[in-house]
Amino acid sequence: MKPFDLPHELRITEMAWPTRIVLGPGAVERLPAQVARLGMKHPLVVTDAGVVKAGLAQRIFDVLRKADVPFDVFDRVQPNPTDRDADEGLAAYRRGNCHGIVALGGGSSLDAAKLVQLLTTHPPPLSRYDDATGGDRFVEDNLPPLIAIPTTAGTGSEVGRAGVATLPDTGRKTVIFSPYLLPKAAICDPELTVGLPPHLTAATGLDAFTHCVEAYLANGFHPLADAVAIDGIQRVARSLPVAFRDGTDLFARTDMMVAALEGATAFQKGLGACHALAHALTPISGVHHGLANAIVLPAVMEFNRGAVAARLARVAVAMGDSSAIREDVLAGNAIERVRSLCAELQIPPRLREVGVKEEDLPRIAQKAFEDASHQTNPRRCTEEDLLAIARSAF
Ligand SMILES: [Fe+2]
Repeated sequence: MKPFDLPHELRITEMAWPTRIVLGPGAVERLPAQVARLGMKHPLVVTDAGVVKAGLAQRIFDVLRKADVPFDVFDRVQPNPTDRDADEGLAAYRRGNCHGIVALGGGSSLDAAKLVQLLTTHPPPLSRYDDATGGDRFVEDNLPPLIAIPTTAGTGSEVGRAGVATLPDTGRKTVIFSPYLLPKAAICDPELTVGLPPHLTAATGLDAFTHCVEAYLANGFHPLADAVAIDGIQRVARSLPVAFRDGTDLFARTDMMVAALEGATAFQKGLGACHALAHALTPISGVHHGLANAIVLPAVMEFNRGAVAARLARVAVAMGDSSAIREDVLAGNAIERVRSLCAELQIPPRLREVGVKEEDLPRIAQKAFEDASHQTNPRRCTEEDLLAIARSAF
């Protein structure tokens, strides 16, 4: 088949948004062209053991070798990275006399790679750049270029301006945010997600979904983000169950990669109480980020229902309801549709089923209240509200 005979989902498309995005099955073949475009002389590939084990790192190495691109590798990023990952990555960068970074993996590898990138030109400690204390003002526009290659369709960190790590000085998941951390290119190749097992396809995909839903419901006027978020909701509703059942379906995998890009683009508008709780559930109870979002989301939607019924109605329509139905009915349908989507994806409906302990709920609510995500929740929430939401999801 010639390229122009292929449907859009199976072709490689390049878009500026504002990251250069190379999207489509086989897109990794375009990595050397992006390395050359960005003038990377000797990139450091930053990745993790899971990606290596899945054979995905080898695929990238082969592409680089075939194009005679010299590179070094740091493949020891831990899940939910800390300052140690950034320090070790930086040492590898210096040892290899590298220029430029290729970040390969899920959210953890992409985040860690951005922090390595920051430390190449900025003095430690990383806590100096903590967004919560206005640290973004110390980040300058002198970073080496970074190309992000996601191996999951979830966080959307490939088009995000933040790197997240748990730091000893702050004692929490710390967001380091700057427009200069936006990758110079994202190579989104759905073939890299084909081997992702169904439970991780579901959890990461529902993270992308939660980004779209929370951004759409978030306080504030951002019609661009809203339009993008609604499109993402539609894509997840139609394609995540397909990708869950048949991981090799490239239409569904491409759709999910797009939804992940859309979620992370849309949440420039803000997130909500669901992410505030998820950001506490991962460090305290060890729940996977996407899974935590998926379990808490219906309870957060219930909490928000009175404040954003019209928006919830739009969510229901994006998920397949008829717009002729009464708005208040549609608002309820949206919550039910999210519950049944999670059930179809075999997400346990209660926090107690994923190892969360009841006695930890007050601490989770306290940490969630300290998290900035709930500040854009469409209904104001107190620490007590967050505790009540966590209890209803327990
Ligand atoms: Fe998320």
